[in-house]
Amino acid sequence: MTSLAATPHGRSLPRSYYVDEDVFAADLDAVWRRYWLFAGHTCELAAPGDFLVIEPADESLIVVRADDGRLRALHNTCRHRGSRICDEPAGKAKRFVCPYHQWTYALDGSLQACGGVDLELGIDRGELSLREAHVEEAAGLVFVSLAEDPPPFAGARGDLERMFDRQGLDRAKVAARRGYAVCANWKLVWANNRECWHCHVGHPEYIRANYDTARDNAQARAELDARVAALQDRGFAVDHPDVGLSAFPSPGRWWSVNRTATVPGFQTESVDGLPVAPPMGSHDGHDTGTLRARVLPGFWCHASADHAVTTRLLPVGPLETKVEVTWLVDARAGEGRDYDLDRLLPFWQQTSEQDWALCERNQRGILSSAYLPGPYSPSREANVIAFDDWYLVAMNGRGG
Ligand code: FES
Ligand SMILES: [Fe+2]
Repeated sequence: MTSLAATPHGRSLPRSYYVDEDVFAADLDAVWRRYWLFAGHTCELAAPGDFLVIEPADESLIVVRADDGRLRALHNTCRHRGSRICDEPAGKAKRFVCPYHQWTYALDGSLQACGGVDLELGIDRGELSLREAHVEEAAGLVFVSLAEDPPPFAGARGDLERMFDRQGLDRAKVAARRGYAVCANWKLVWANNRECWHCHVGHPEYIRANYDTARDNAQARAELDARVAALQDRGFAVDHPDVGLSAFPSPGRWWSVNRTATVPGFQTESVDGLPVAPPMGSHDGHDTGTLRARVLPGFWCHASADHAVTTRLLPVGPLETKVEVTWLVDARAGEGRDYDLDRLLPFWQQTSEQDWALCERNQRGILSSAYLPGPYSPSREANVIAFDDWYLVAMNGRGG
């Protein structure tokens, strides 16, 4: 274990936490090989043989729908001499054949052919299945865990399935996807996500739609109360009826889901507030606020009635995080007929890219030898303090 610098509470972390290879290696063990990582969407893995590959740092998992309809997360490492098997990021397969000596695995990871080595050695093929990781599917979202004994998923499943009930993510389709190599430590990406102090200047489009940065004055309060009441009248649970961000995370609490009202006129999170696609799932109209979910360490999502946007983070190195942003619409919606990408994408594409630029600038400043941990605002950066606390508890092996 690396010698970690002392972390004064209420201040940003010491430089080594954002820069050093050995801290990054410790992060992988304590966080990325322990918690549930967002892999993708049920709709991308609908039929037997559909697969995608997820690569947190040096790990590689093939997430595949097997012939029995169950999802499997197979380590992408051949049981012969360890070659990487699958190079494709996603696709459809009948089986997986290792390119090195053609050992062949079924969709459930069982070894089908190995050139007779099993007979030669008198060993049971059953001992040479691909190794498996844990996989869970909830509300149309797929998560994997590399841990032998991951934290129980039931709480996250319950909240996701209850809150995403009407969203129909399991019968959605991917309308667009954008990938980014963000030159910033993954913790800086979360720190940025956990506060909206930067939003007034950093996100001119986003703040028009949301109450995240609104002053809690009588006028905003009355307007928001009316918006929340309208959602509740339509049967929506509004878990966060206040201005500002909901509190997340806390030690032991690595997921959260809440619905939040949008500003009047914003029926959806689009640049002009007007719908950009037909309602998804069992929504019978627009103007349902935003349904927001987060699952540490690699997922957040904003869903309006007509579209959902998921963000997947994967660590590459101490100074790089791979980010994938995916726009989902109802599976029945047709591009050019029911939606256009030039109306669907800008709100979250602009907001996301503004964030990545802020994260990269933050990282560049921290690379300087002059960087010292600076004070967080207890009111505006409470969730950043909470994120650091969650992370430090996880690093000390006491995370839930
Ligand atoms: S390493 Fe895969 S078949 Fe030899
Ligand atoms: Fe932001």
